[in-house]
Amino acid sequence: MTTAPAAPTAPAALRERAARLDADDPLAALRDRFLLPPDTVYLDGNSLGPLPAAVPPVVRDVLTRQWGTDLIASWHTNGWWEAPLRVGDAIGALIGAAPGQTVAGDSTSVQLFTALDAAAALRPGRTLLVTDPEHFPTDRYLAEAVARRRGLDVRRVPPAALPGFLDAEGHRVAVVSYSPVDFRTGELYDMRALTRAAHQAGALALWDLCHAAGALPLDVDSLGVDLAVGCGYKFLSGGPGAPAYLYVARRHHAGLETPLPGWTGHADPFAMAPQYTPAPGVARARVGTPAILSLLALEAALTAFDGVDLTEVRAKSLSLTGFFLRCAEELLAPLGFTAVTPADPGRRGSQVSLRHPGARALTAALAEHGVIADMRVPDLLRFGVNALYTTHQELLTAVLRLRDVARARGADGS
Ligand SMILES: Cc1ncc(COP(=O)(O)O)c(C=O)c1O
Repeated sequence: MTTAPAAPTAPAALRERAARLDADDPLAALRDRFLLPPDTVYLDGNSLGPLPAAVPPVVRDVLTRQWGTDLIASWHTNGWWEAPLRVGDAIGALIGAAPGQTVAGDSTSVQLFTALDAAAALRPGRTLLVTDPEHFPTDRYLAEAVARRRGLDVRRVPPAALPGFLDAEGHRVAVVSYSPVDFRTGELYDMRALTRAAHQAGALALWDLCHAAGALPLDVDSLGVDLAVGCGYKFLSGGPGAPAYLYVARRHHAGLETPLPGWTGHADPFAMAPQYTPAPGVARARVGTPAILSLLALEAALTAFDGVDLTEVRAKSLSLTGFFLRCAEELLAPLGFTAVTPADPGRRGSQVSLRHPGARALTAALAEHGVIADMRVPDLLRFGVNALYTTHQELLTAVLRLRDVARARGADGS
């Protein structure tokens, strides 16, 4: 097990609180499921999750035995062919999807294109595609592209204004496309209420779960979510460029038309038929030959969640972000840092964002002191916590180091 670097001098009350919270942490042992570098406080798992210990032996086996020895027979003998649906179901278990509705593969951007286009096709005659003006760029670009392709108009409506917008214009809306967690601020939106508002308007709800899956309990089936996408490389720790996933609720399978009817989504791929006939169910959302090395690395990474109760993950994540906010208020607010992540636990994802004009230089300086966070232009420092491995003591160390580098650099942090 790795340990965090020794903390610089901290107020005794914060130090004692961090130590007590870590000592009482029911998830503490899960940290051993990750290979974290020593002397590093890693708070960027909301961008790239660290390496799970289960991954290297699996990747070695895939390389040396499955590919190296078993060669092409592996498509069947080592379960390569079924991997997109098998890994999809493993992700489905983390987002509250019963088996048979989730497929893993491609990138989030590709899955978003498929989901947006398929959603528009499921609501013919409706002319609006509604999305968050602050959505991650790829979500915004693809909404525009799908709208152009389908002859729809895009409306950019902040989540708080969505119910009111739908009351007025909902009869024209085909799909609403949002993320439960704002990637910049870490604000958590009410997925249940927004999904219900979409349905009351007769629209479909599409969620981008990149910043939520693996970080908090999700229940796409019971909320009645229509479609969802997400990446494999953030809280799922599936590795750089890990395959993404697409969830389509079973009730939409029969009418599901995907814009990328590739051969692996065919009902009988090896018949090599002249015409495309979609496979039954979500399998038709497969496109081309799956990236097996990445897919099986992701599958191994997901075992870090074996036996883990996501309500406990959420409770610890809130404890971590709450503690970080308290440390920031005490130690960083006097230096010009402002928390933009809501203090209300019900409105907080699994990251804390602080505003400071020197965000870029400070993030780089922090990295030199063993604390890995990231920044978003122009002035946000982002600190992602993952309850599977982050400790309260690491967060105190991060805040103290940030205080020290900010003090050393003066008021604007440059
Ligand atoms: C909400 C959200 N959607 C999508 C993406 C990225 O999409 P892709 O996996 O295709 O690069 C990100 C990346 O950070 C993201 O935060």
